[in-house]
Order: sequence, then C-alpha cells, then structure tokens
Amino acid sequence: MSFRYDENAPFCIKNVSFEIKKGEMVSIVGTNGAGKSTIASLICGFYAQNEGQILLNGEDISNLSIKERGEKIGFVLQNQNQMISKSIIFDEVALGLTVRKIPKDEIKERVNKVLKICGIYPYRNWPVSSISFGQKKRVTIASILVMNPSVIILDEPTAGQDFAHYTEIMKFLRKLNREFGITIIMITHDMHLMLEYTDKTIVISDGQVLATGKSTDILTNEEITRAASLKKTSLYELAKKCGIENASEFADKFIHFEQENRRKS
Ligand SMILES: Nc1ncnc2c1ncn2[C@@H]1O[C@H](COP(=O)(O)OP(=O)(O)O)[C@@H](O)[C@H]1O
Ligand SMILES: [Mg+2]
Repeated sequence: MSFRYDENAPFCIKNVSFEIKKGEMVSIVGTNGAGKSTIASLICGFYAQNEGQILLNGEDISNLSIKERGEKIGFVLQNQNQMISKSIIFDEVALGLTVRKIPKDEIKERVNKVLKICGIYPYRNWPVSSISFGQKKRVTIASILVMNPSVIILDEPTAGQDFAHYTEIMKFLRKLNREFGITIIMITHDMHLMLEYTDKTIVISDGQVLATGKSTDILTNEEITRAASLKKTSLYELAKKCGIENASEFADKFIHFEQENRRKS
C-alpha cells in the first residue's frame, strides 16, 4: 500500500508490501520517522491508505471501520496513557465490551478471565493510577485481549523500561503468542529485543520495505543495517572480532544459550 497524510505531502508509505503468517511473532524495525507507526495506524484503520489493500485471512479489511477492525486486530499504542480512559481497572478492561452492549454477566466472565491471564486480577478494583508502568501496560493489553483479537500490534511496548520490566512484558507477550496462538506484531527500534523475541523481522526505511527475513540474518547483514541505519548488535561485533565467519549462526546460538540459562535460573 501507499499513503500520504495529505494530498500536498509526499507519500510517506511507498508501495509497502509484506505478509505475516497466523501465529507468528514478528518485529517491524526502522529508525525514527521510517513509517512504522503509520503502517500500524493504517492496519488498524486510523487512516485509510491511498493505494493498495490490507488482507486478513485473505479478506480485504480496508472497508471495515476502526471499531470492526478492533475486534480482529488490537493495537497497543506506544503511549499507554492515551489508551486509558476509565479510573478503575476492571471498567477499563471491560470498556470495549461495554460499548458493544455485551450482556453484563458475559462481560464479567470475560474480563475476569483476561485479568487472570494478564496477572492483574487481584488489582481489578484498584484505580489505574495506583499501579506501575508495567502493570498499566498489562491493563492496556488486557483491554485488547478481551476482544479476542487474532492479531495484536504493539508500538514500542518496552520503551522507557528497565531490563527486568521489559523482560517481563516480552515473556508475557511470548506466552500469549505460544499458548493462545495470537499473532504478534511488535514495532521496535531495540535490536536486541527483535533478535531475542521475534524470529522474523520486517525492516522499514524511508517508507519502504528494505528487507524481510530471519531476525539474526537481518542484524548480521551489514548492507541492511547500514541502509536502514539500524544499530548493529554487539553480538555481531563480537563475532567479527573473534573471526567467526557465520555471525548469524553465532548470534542465533548465543541467544538460545542465554534463553536456556534464564529459563533454568
Ligand atoms: N499525523 C501526521 N501528520 C503528518 N505527518 C506525519 C504524521 N505522523 C507521522 N508523520 C510523518 O510520517 C513519517 C513517518 O512517521 P511515523 O510513522 O511516525 O514513523 P516511525 O513510527 O517509524 O517513527 C514521518 O516523516 C513523519 O513526520
Ligand atoms: Mg513510531
């Protein structure tokens, strides 16, 4: 698809085309201004593309409203405060169902179930303002999960968080992906995050798809990282310094070893 914010502006999304398979966990990476958030907004229907189609399960969803798309595709905004409008956690998570006039009993059942999955059930009657940043992120994810979407898009889900918190969020997303089969699209500029948690990556540069492929291959490909101004991972530098020829395989093994150790500890 192609898109520009107004007819006098240049296209900021230019013939972008990619495919994500059901059940995948994928990163969209690229520098500031590359067009990542715009692509997510187009997928969710906040803006309409000027050219092209968006297919979900082979069906063109371009004519569905934001509300209709929200039942299939959940979007977790970068700034979670923009997403939260209710003061009590339960009400916030229930909002999407309440506005769709779902019966009260069903709302209660679905919301409680999702609150448990997200680990925030004990706080259900607390004010949103009283919980931590990471817990708020869970609230925003819960309010999307309650709609039973098949796809969740997260814009910079770990921005501004320390290692412990971001690991917690990423593990939770991976659980949603693996246990519930939800397709997860993560927008990030954090190369380590992309490498560790997503097998596949789509690189956006200047409104175009520069590359798609295995995350380790992308990050160890000097041409791509240079062209997209991505920060090379230190694993790549280490492989170079040690004279290891296959940097991609090295990065792969390192990441798996590290994950294995973290699981044991
Ligand atoms: N609401 C908007 N109105 C006009 N231009 C915008 C708007 N939002 C983003 N842009 C422009 O579109 C381009 C892509 O931006 P964006 O999708 O936010 O990039 P990213 O998320 O990769 O940082 C940038 O040139 C940006 O300035
Ligand atoms: Mg953005």
